[in-house]
Amino acid sequence: MKIMVVGGGGREHAIIKKLKENESVTEIFALPGNGGIAKDATCVPIGAKDIEGAVRFAKENGIDFAVVAPDDPLVLGMVDALEAAGIPAFGPKANAAIIEGSKVFSKNLMKKYGIPTARYEVFEKAEDALAYLADAPIPTVIKADGLALGKGVIIATTREEATDAVHAMMEDRVFGASGSRIVIEEFLTGPEVSVLAFTDGKTLVPMVSSMDHKRAHDGDTGLNTGGMGTVAPNPYYTDDIAKVCMETIFLPTMEAMNAEGRTFRGCLYFGLMLTADGPRVIEYNCRFGDPETQVVLPLLESDLLTVMQACANGTLASTPVRFRDGAACCVIVASKGYPQKYESGFPMILPPDEKESFIYVAGAKCAEDGTLQSAGGRVLGVTAVRDDLASAVKGAYEMTAKVRFDNGFYRSDIGAKALAAKNV
Ligand code: AMP
Ligand code: GLY
Repeated sequence: MKIMVVGGGGREHAIIKKLKENESVTEIFALPGNGGIAKDATCVPIGAKDIEGAVRFAKENGIDFAVVAPDDPLVLGMVDALEAAGIPAFGPKANAAIIEGSKVFSKNLMKKYGIPTARYEVFEKAEDALAYLADAPIPTVIKADGLALGKGVIIATTREEATDAVHAMMEDRVFGASGSRIVIEEFLTGPEVSVLAFTDGKTLVPMVSSMDHKRAHDGDTGLNTGGMGTVAPNPYYTDDIAKVCMETIFLPTMEAMNAEGRTFRGCLYFGLMLTADGPRVIEYNCRFGDPETQVVLPLLESDLLTVMQACANGTLASTPVRFRDGAACCVIVASKGYPQKYESGFPMILPPDEKESFIYVAGAKCAEDGTLQSAGGRVLGVTAVRDDLASAVKGAYEMTAKVRFDNGFYRSDIGAKALAAKNV
Protein backbone atom coordinates (compact mmCIF):
# COMPACT_ATOMS: atom_id res chain seq x y z
CA MET A 1 0.00 0.00 0.00
CA LYS A 2 1.14 3.50 -0.82
CA ILE A 3 0.38 6.04 1.87
CA MET A 4 0.55 9.81 1.80
CA VAL A 5 0.88 11.86 4.99
CA VAL A 6 0.20 15.58 4.75
CA GLY A 7 2.25 17.78 7.10
CA GLY A 8 5.86 18.15 8.12
CA GLY A 9 6.35 18.29 11.89
CA GLY A 10 7.07 16.01 14.82
CA ARG A 11 3.47 14.82 14.90
CA GLU A 12 3.70 13.70 11.28
CA HIS A 13 7.00 11.95 11.98
CA ALA A 14 5.34 10.02 14.82
CA ILE A 15 2.41 9.08 12.57
CA ILE A 16 4.76 7.94 9.80
CA LYS A 17 6.92 5.82 12.10
CA LYS A 18 3.82 4.11 13.45
CA LEU A 19 2.32 3.52 10.00
CA LYS A 20 5.58 1.88 8.92
CA GLU A 21 4.98 -0.92 11.43
CA ASN A 22 2.30 -2.30 9.09
CA GLU A 23 3.94 -4.74 6.70
CA SER A 24 1.54 -4.03 3.86
CA VAL A 25 2.81 -0.45 3.69
CA THR A 26 5.29 -0.34 0.82
CA GLU A 27 5.91 3.38 0.55
CA ILE A 28 5.09 6.52 2.51
CA PHE A 29 5.17 10.01 1.02
CA ALA A 30 5.29 13.09 3.25
CA LEU A 31 3.92 16.40 1.90
CA PRO A 32 6.18 18.24 2.54
CA GLY A 33 7.83 16.30 5.39
CA ASN A 34 11.20 17.58 6.59
CA GLY A 35 14.88 16.67 6.56
CA GLY A 36 14.48 14.26 9.49
CA ILE A 37 11.28 12.66 8.22
CA ALA A 38 13.22 11.95 4.99
CA LYS A 39 14.81 8.99 6.77
CA ASP A 40 11.42 7.30 7.09
CA ALA A 41 9.43 8.59 4.10
CA THR A 42 9.85 10.11 0.66
CA CYS A 43 9.46 13.87 1.10
CA VAL A 44 7.59 15.67 -1.67
CA PRO A 45 7.82 19.47 -1.95
CA ILE A 46 4.08 20.12 -1.84
CA GLY A 47 2.93 22.44 0.93
CA ALA A 48 0.46 21.13 3.52
CA LYS A 49 -2.16 23.69 2.41
CA ASP A 50 -1.86 22.92 -1.31
CA ILE A 51 -5.09 20.99 -1.84
CA GLU A 52 -4.87 20.80 -5.63
CA GLY A 53 -1.23 19.75 -5.45
CA ALA A 54 -2.00 17.01 -2.92
CA VAL A 55 -4.90 15.60 -4.96
CA ARG A 56 -2.86 15.66 -8.16
CA PHE A 57 0.07 13.93 -6.46
CA ALA A 58 -2.20 11.27 -4.96
CA LYS A 59 -3.81 10.48 -8.31
CA GLU A 60 -0.58 10.46 -10.29
CA ASN A 61 1.18 8.21 -7.78
CA GLY A 62 -1.56 5.71 -7.07
CA ILE A 63 -1.93 6.60 -3.38
CA ASP A 64 -4.12 4.06 -1.59
CA PHE A 65 -4.72 6.01 1.61
CA ALA A 66 -4.05 9.57 2.75
CA VAL A 67 -3.61 10.95 6.26
CA VAL A 68 -4.20 14.69 6.61
CA ALA A 69 -2.63 15.72 9.90
CA PRO A 70 -2.59 19.54 10.30
CA ASP A 71 -5.56 21.81 11.01
CA ASP A 72 -5.26 24.15 8.02
CA PRO A 73 -5.74 21.64 5.18
CA LEU A 74 -8.56 19.95 7.13
CA VAL A 75 -10.40 23.23 7.65
CA LEU A 76 -9.78 24.12 3.99
CA GLY A 77 -11.37 20.85 2.82
CA MET A 78 -8.46 18.64 1.76
CA VAL A 79 -10.24 15.45 2.85
CA ASP A 80 -13.34 16.47 0.85
CA ALA A 81 -11.16 17.00 -2.23
CA LEU A 82 -9.27 13.71 -1.82
CA GLU A 83 -12.45 11.71 -1.31
CA ALA A 84 -14.09 13.38 -4.32
CA ALA A 85 -11.09 12.19 -6.33
CA GLY A 86 -11.61 8.64 -5.06
CA ILE A 87 -8.75 8.61 -2.53
CA PRO A 88 -9.72 7.34 0.93
CA ALA A 89 -8.44 9.68 3.63
CA PHE A 90 -8.15 9.91 7.42
CA GLY A 91 -9.42 13.20 8.83
CA PRO A 92 -12.67 15.16 9.07
CA LYS A 93 -14.27 16.93 6.15
CA ALA A 94 -14.35 20.73 6.24
CA ASN A 95 -17.89 20.88 7.61
CA ALA A 96 -16.72 18.90 10.68
CA ALA A 97 -13.23 20.43 10.97
CA ILE A 98 -15.05 23.68 11.79
CA ILE A 99 -15.15 22.34 15.37
CA GLU A 100 -11.57 23.64 15.55
CA GLY A 101 -11.78 26.22 12.75
CA SER A 102 -14.33 28.37 14.55
CA LYS A 103 -14.42 28.89 18.31
CA VAL A 104 -17.83 30.54 17.95
CA PHE A 105 -19.11 27.37 16.27
CA SER A 106 -17.68 25.08 18.95
CA LYS A 107 -18.90 27.21 21.86
CA ASN A 108 -22.41 27.44 20.37
CA LEU A 109 -22.39 23.68 19.75
CA MET A 110 -21.52 23.00 23.39
CA LYS A 111 -24.19 25.39 24.63
CA LYS A 112 -26.87 23.91 22.35
CA TYR A 113 -26.11 20.32 23.39
CA GLY A 114 -25.32 20.93 27.08
CA ILE A 115 -21.66 19.95 26.87
CA PRO A 116 -19.79 21.43 29.87
CA THR A 117 -17.53 24.37 28.99
CA ALA A 118 -16.65 27.84 30.26
CA ARG A 119 -19.47 30.43 30.15
CA TYR A 120 -18.96 32.83 27.26
CA GLU A 121 -20.20 35.69 25.10
CA VAL A 122 -19.59 36.20 21.37
CA PHE A 123 -18.81 39.66 19.96
CA GLU A 124 -18.75 40.92 16.40
CA LYS A 125 -18.06 44.55 17.26
CA ALA A 126 -15.14 45.87 19.31
CA GLU A 127 -17.35 48.48 21.05
CA ASP A 128 -19.70 45.78 22.35
CA ALA A 129 -16.79 43.68 23.61
CA LEU A 130 -15.26 46.71 25.34
CA ALA A 131 -18.57 47.63 26.96
CA TYR A 132 -18.93 44.06 28.26
CA LEU A 133 -15.39 44.13 29.65
CA ALA A 134 -16.08 47.28 31.69
CA ASP A 135 -17.46 45.14 34.52
CA ALA A 136 -16.66 41.56 33.50
CA PRO A 137 -14.92 39.37 36.09
CA ILE A 138 -11.10 39.41 35.80
CA PRO A 139 -9.08 37.30 34.89
CA THR A 140 -10.94 36.69 31.66
CA VAL A 141 -10.11 34.82 28.48
CA ILE A 142 -10.28 36.37 25.00
CA LYS A 143 -10.26 34.07 21.97
CA ALA A 144 -10.12 34.93 18.28
CA ASP A 145 -12.78 32.99 16.38
CA GLY A 146 -10.61 31.42 13.68
CA LEU A 147 -7.31 29.58 13.44
CA ALA A 148 -4.44 31.74 14.69
CA LEU A 149 -1.42 29.42 14.73
CA GLY A 150 -2.25 28.47 18.30
CA LYS A 151 -1.80 32.07 19.46
CA GLY A 152 -5.37 33.33 19.38
CA VAL A 153 -6.03 32.90 23.11
CA ILE A 154 -5.22 35.66 25.61
CA ILE A 155 -5.60 35.12 29.34
CA ALA A 156 -6.06 38.67 30.61
CA THR A 157 -5.20 39.18 34.26
CA THR A 158 -6.06 42.89 34.24
CA ARG A 159 -8.87 44.89 32.61
CA GLU A 160 -6.27 46.75 30.58
CA GLU A 161 -4.81 43.54 29.11
CA ALA A 162 -8.34 42.45 28.21
CA THR A 163 -9.17 45.66 26.38
CA ASP A 164 -5.74 45.63 24.67
CA ALA A 165 -6.51 42.13 23.40
CA VAL A 166 -9.85 43.26 21.96
CA HIS A 167 -8.19 46.21 20.20
CA ALA A 168 -5.42 43.96 18.85
CA MET A 169 -7.74 41.22 17.57
CA MET A 170 -10.74 43.21 16.32
CA GLU A 171 -9.21 46.52 15.23
CA ASP A 172 -5.54 45.89 14.46
CA ARG A 173 -6.42 42.40 13.18
CA VAL A 174 -3.20 40.85 14.47
CA PHE A 175 -4.67 37.43 13.62
CA GLY A 176 -6.20 38.62 10.33
CA ALA A 177 -9.77 37.59 9.60
CA SER A 178 -9.67 35.22 12.60
CA GLY A 179 -10.32 38.28 14.79
CA SER A 180 -13.50 39.43 13.04
CA ARG A 181 -15.43 37.69 15.80
CA ILE A 182 -14.20 36.95 19.29
CA VAL A 183 -15.28 34.87 22.25
CA ILE A 184 -14.85 36.24 25.77
CA GLU A 185 -15.11 33.49 28.32
CA GLU A 186 -14.96 32.66 31.98
CA PHE A 187 -11.48 31.93 33.36
CA LEU A 188 -11.36 28.38 34.71
CA THR A 189 -8.75 26.70 36.87
CA GLY A 190 -7.65 23.12 37.38
CA PRO A 191 -5.31 20.55 35.86
CA GLU A 192 -5.40 20.32 32.08
CA VAL A 193 -5.70 17.03 30.23
CA SER A 194 -5.51 16.26 26.52
CA VAL A 195 -7.56 13.35 25.26
CA LEU A 196 -7.36 12.35 21.60
CA ALA A 197 -10.06 10.04 20.31
CA PHE A 198 -10.52 7.97 17.18
CA THR A 199 -14.03 8.20 15.76
CA ASP A 200 -15.90 7.13 12.65
CA GLY A 201 -18.99 9.12 13.66
CA LYS A 202 -20.70 6.08 15.20
CA THR A 203 -18.11 4.78 17.63
CA LEU A 204 -15.62 6.84 19.62
CA VAL A 205 -12.51 5.35 21.21
CA PRO A 206 -10.46 7.62 23.48
CA MET A 207 -6.70 7.12 23.33
CA VAL A 208 -4.45 7.17 26.37
CA SER A 209 -4.62 10.61 28.04
CA SER A 210 -1.71 13.05 28.01
CA MET A 211 -0.38 16.26 29.55
CA ASP A 212 1.14 19.08 27.49
CA HIS A 213 3.62 21.65 28.84
CA LYS A 214 2.76 24.83 26.99
CA ARG A 215 5.05 27.42 28.56
CA ALA A 216 8.55 27.91 27.17
CA HIS A 217 10.50 27.59 30.42
CA ASP A 218 10.79 25.53 33.59
CA GLY A 219 8.16 25.90 36.30
CA ASP A 220 5.54 26.86 33.66
CA THR A 221 7.11 30.28 33.14
CA GLY A 222 7.75 32.18 29.92
CA LEU A 223 5.57 32.56 26.86
CA ASN A 224 3.00 30.09 25.59
CA THR A 225 4.36 27.80 22.89
CA GLY A 226 2.99 25.07 20.67
CA GLY A 227 4.06 22.66 23.45
CA MET A 228 7.48 22.00 25.01
CA GLY A 229 6.88 18.42 26.06
CA THR A 230 4.29 15.84 26.96
CA VAL A 231 3.72 12.82 29.14
CA ALA A 232 1.17 10.03 28.86
CA PRO A 233 -0.89 8.91 30.64
CA ASN A 234 -1.96 12.02 32.56
CA PRO A 235 -2.18 11.04 36.27
CA TYR A 236 -4.99 13.54 36.95
CA TYR A 237 -7.20 11.69 34.50
CA THR A 238 -8.52 8.89 36.68
CA ASP A 239 -10.84 6.10 35.52
CA ASP A 240 -13.75 7.86 37.23
CA ILE A 241 -13.04 11.13 35.44
CA ALA A 242 -12.63 9.25 32.15
CA LYS A 243 -16.10 7.76 32.61
CA VAL A 244 -17.63 11.19 33.28
CA CYS A 245 -15.87 12.62 30.23
CA MET A 246 -17.09 9.81 27.99
CA GLU A 247 -20.69 10.29 29.12
CA THR A 248 -20.90 14.07 29.36
CA ILE A 249 -18.38 15.25 26.76
CA PHE A 250 -17.01 12.75 24.22
CA LEU A 251 -20.11 10.87 23.11
CA PRO A 252 -22.37 13.96 23.32
CA THR A 253 -19.91 15.81 21.06
CA MET A 254 -19.92 13.01 18.48
CA GLU A 255 -23.73 12.90 18.58
CA ALA A 256 -24.01 16.69 18.41
CA MET A 257 -21.92 16.77 15.24
CA ASN A 258 -24.12 14.06 13.73
CA ALA A 259 -27.26 15.98 14.68
CA GLU A 260 -25.85 19.05 12.96
CA GLY A 261 -25.20 17.05 9.77
CA ARG A 262 -21.47 17.39 10.35
CA THR A 263 -20.37 13.82 11.12
CA PHE A 264 -16.79 13.87 12.40
CA ARG A 265 -14.45 11.10 11.25
CA GLY A 266 -10.80 11.13 12.23
CA CYS A 267 -9.03 12.18 15.40
CA LEU A 268 -11.02 14.45 17.68
CA TYR A 269 -8.91 16.21 20.30
CA PHE A 270 -10.47 17.25 23.60
CA GLY A 271 -8.56 19.88 25.56
CA LEU A 272 -10.06 19.53 29.04
CA MET A 273 -9.77 21.34 32.33
CA LEU A 274 -10.60 19.36 35.47
CA THR A 275 -12.30 22.07 37.51
CA ALA A 276 -13.69 21.72 41.02
CA ASP A 277 -17.14 21.54 39.36
CA GLY A 278 -16.12 18.72 37.00
CA PRO A 279 -14.41 18.43 33.62
CA ARG A 280 -14.91 21.29 31.14
CA VAL A 281 -13.97 21.54 27.48
CA ILE A 282 -11.33 24.22 26.93
CA GLU A 283 -10.93 23.54 23.24
CA TYR A 284 -11.56 21.04 20.49
CA ASN A 285 -9.03 20.29 17.79
CA CYS A 286 -9.96 18.44 14.62
CA ARG A 287 -6.67 16.49 14.51
CA PHE A 288 -3.88 14.84 16.45
CA GLY A 289 -2.19 17.21 18.93
CA ASP A 290 1.46 18.13 18.65
CA PRO A 291 3.37 17.07 20.78
CA GLU A 292 0.65 14.83 22.32
CA THR A 293 0.92 12.45 19.36
CA GLN A 294 4.59 11.88 20.14
CA VAL A 295 3.65 10.20 23.45
CA VAL A 296 0.29 8.68 22.55
CA LEU A 297 1.14 6.77 19.37
CA PRO A 298 4.22 5.02 20.78
CA LEU A 299 1.89 3.49 23.38
CA LEU A 300 -0.57 2.25 20.74
CA GLU A 301 -0.31 -1.52 20.42
CA SER A 302 -2.87 -1.91 17.66
CA ASP A 303 -2.04 -1.27 14.04
CA LEU A 304 -2.45 2.47 13.29
CA LEU A 305 -3.25 2.08 9.59
CA THR A 306 -6.04 -0.41 10.33
CA VAL A 307 -7.55 1.94 12.93
CA MET A 308 -7.31 4.94 10.59
CA GLN A 309 -8.95 3.01 7.77
CA ALA A 310 -11.72 1.94 10.15
CA CYS A 311 -12.35 5.60 11.04
CA ALA A 312 -12.58 6.49 7.36
CA ASN A 313 -14.88 3.61 6.35
CA GLY A 314 -17.11 3.38 9.42
CA THR A 315 -15.93 0.07 10.91
CA LEU A 316 -14.32 1.33 14.12
CA ALA A 317 -16.77 -0.67 16.31
CA SER A 318 -15.24 -3.94 15.11
CA THR A 319 -11.61 -2.77 15.14
CA PRO A 320 -9.47 -3.30 18.24
CA VAL A 321 -7.73 -0.20 19.61
CA ARG A 322 -5.37 -1.19 22.41
CA PHE A 323 -2.72 0.73 24.30
CA ARG A 324 0.11 -0.87 26.22
CA ASP A 325 0.54 -0.33 29.94
CA GLY A 326 3.38 1.95 30.92
CA ALA A 327 4.15 5.56 30.14
CA ALA A 328 5.82 7.84 27.63
CA CYS A 329 7.58 11.19 27.87
CA CYS A 330 8.51 13.57 25.04
CA VAL A 331 10.99 16.42 25.55
CA ILE A 332 10.88 19.09 22.84
CA VAL A 333 14.20 20.58 21.83
CA ALA A 334 13.54 24.04 20.37
CA SER A 335 15.72 26.71 18.77
CA LYS A 336 17.02 29.28 21.27
CA GLY A 337 14.65 32.25 21.31
CA TYR A 338 11.54 30.22 20.43
CA PRO A 339 8.60 31.07 20.54
CA GLN A 340 9.91 34.49 19.56
CA LYS A 341 12.78 35.23 17.17
CA TYR A 342 15.15 32.32 16.53
CA GLU A 343 17.72 31.29 13.95
CA SER A 344 17.79 28.16 11.83
CA GLY A 345 20.53 26.34 9.93
CA PHE A 346 22.53 24.91 12.86
CA PRO A 347 24.03 21.45 12.36
CA MET A 348 22.65 18.60 14.45
CA ILE A 349 23.91 15.14 15.23
CA LEU A 350 21.26 12.79 16.59
CA PRO A 351 21.82 9.52 18.42
CA PRO A 352 20.37 6.46 16.66
CA ASP A 353 16.93 5.32 17.79
CA GLU A 354 16.87 2.67 20.48
CA LYS A 355 14.13 0.15 21.13
CA GLU A 356 12.29 2.36 23.59
CA SER A 357 13.89 5.79 23.00
CA PHE A 358 13.58 7.65 19.73
CA ILE A 359 13.60 11.07 18.13
CA TYR A 360 10.82 12.60 16.08
CA VAL A 361 12.12 15.43 13.94
CA ALA A 362 9.86 18.49 13.88
CA GLY A 363 11.93 21.14 12.12
CA ALA A 364 15.01 20.21 10.10
CA LYS A 365 16.41 20.22 6.62
CA CYS A 366 19.04 18.13 4.98
CA ALA A 367 21.99 20.30 3.90
CA GLU A 368 23.77 19.72 0.57
CA ASP A 369 26.62 17.94 2.34
CA GLY A 370 24.09 15.52 3.84
CA THR A 371 24.15 16.91 7.38
CA LEU A 372 20.95 17.59 9.26
CA GLN A 373 20.31 21.25 10.10
CA SER A 374 17.73 22.86 12.35
CA ALA A 375 14.86 24.58 10.53
CA GLY A 376 12.11 25.98 12.70
CA GLY A 377 11.12 26.78 16.27
CA ARG A 378 10.39 23.34 17.60
CA VAL A 379 13.11 21.10 16.20
CA LEU A 380 13.08 17.68 17.90
CA GLY A 381 10.76 15.59 20.05
CA VAL A 382 12.82 13.16 22.08
CA THR A 383 10.58 10.37 23.32
CA ALA A 384 11.02 7.43 25.66
CA VAL A 385 8.54 4.68 26.48
CA ARG A 386 8.96 2.70 29.68
CA ASP A 387 6.94 0.66 32.16
CA ASP A 388 6.43 3.64 34.46
CA LEU A 389 6.42 7.42 34.16
CA ALA A 390 9.55 8.08 36.23
CA SER A 391 11.59 5.78 33.99
CA ALA A 392 10.10 7.29 30.83
CA VAL A 393 11.04 10.81 31.98
CA LYS A 394 14.54 9.64 32.86
CA GLY A 395 14.87 7.83 29.52
CA ALA A 396 13.76 10.87 27.51
CA TYR A 397 16.31 13.11 29.26
CA GLU A 398 19.10 10.54 28.82
CA MET A 399 18.38 10.45 25.09
CA THR A 400 18.15 14.27 24.95
CA ALA A 401 21.62 14.52 26.51
CA LYS A 402 23.01 12.58 23.53
CA VAL A 403 21.72 15.13 21.00
CA ARG A 404 24.35 17.50 19.58
CA PHE A 405 22.68 20.77 18.62
CA ASP A 406 24.35 23.98 19.80
CA ASN A 407 21.40 26.29 19.21
CA GLY A 408 18.90 24.13 21.06
CA PHE A 409 17.20 24.48 24.42
CA TYR A 410 14.69 22.37 26.30
CA ARG A 411 12.78 22.42 29.55
CA SER A 412 14.31 20.32 32.29
CA ASP A 413 11.04 19.65 34.14
CA ILE A 414 8.84 17.82 31.64
CA GLY A 415 6.89 15.26 33.65
CA ALA A 416 7.72 16.80 37.04
CA LYS A 417 4.16 17.93 37.69
CA ALA A 418 2.77 14.55 36.63
CA LEU A 419 5.22 12.72 38.89
CA ALA A 420 4.33 14.97 41.83
CA ALA A 421 0.61 14.36 41.20
CA LYS A 422 1.20 10.60 41.12
CA ASN A 423 2.91 10.72 44.49
CA VAL A 424 0.12 12.58 46.29
P1 AMP B 1 -5.70 27.04 23.24
O1 AMP B 1 -4.84 27.88 22.34
O2 AMP B 1 -7.15 27.06 22.90
O3 AMP B 1 -5.08 25.67 23.43
O4 AMP B 1 -5.60 27.70 24.68
C1 AMP B 1 -4.37 27.90 25.22
C2 AMP B 1 -4.41 27.73 26.69
O5 AMP B 1 -5.15 28.78 27.27
C3 AMP B 1 -5.09 26.47 27.20
O6 AMP B 1 -4.27 25.35 27.18
C4 AMP B 1 -5.41 26.88 28.61
O7 AMP B 1 -4.25 26.74 29.43
C5 AMP B 1 -5.71 28.34 28.49
N1 AMP B 1 -7.15 28.58 28.49
C6 AMP B 1 -7.99 28.57 27.42
N2 AMP B 1 -9.25 28.82 27.81
C7 AMP B 1 -9.21 28.99 29.15
C8 AMP B 1 -10.20 29.28 30.16
N3 AMP B 1 -11.49 29.45 29.85
N4 AMP B 1 -9.80 29.37 31.43
C9 AMP B 1 -8.50 29.22 31.76
N5 AMP B 1 -7.53 28.95 30.88
C10 AMP B 1 -7.87 28.83 29.59
N1 GLY C 1 -0.51 20.59 21.77
C1 GLY C 1 -1.71 21.27 21.46
C2 GLY C 1 -2.10 21.27 20.06
O1 GLY C 1 -1.70 20.46 19.25
O2 GLY C 1 -2.88 22.15 19.69
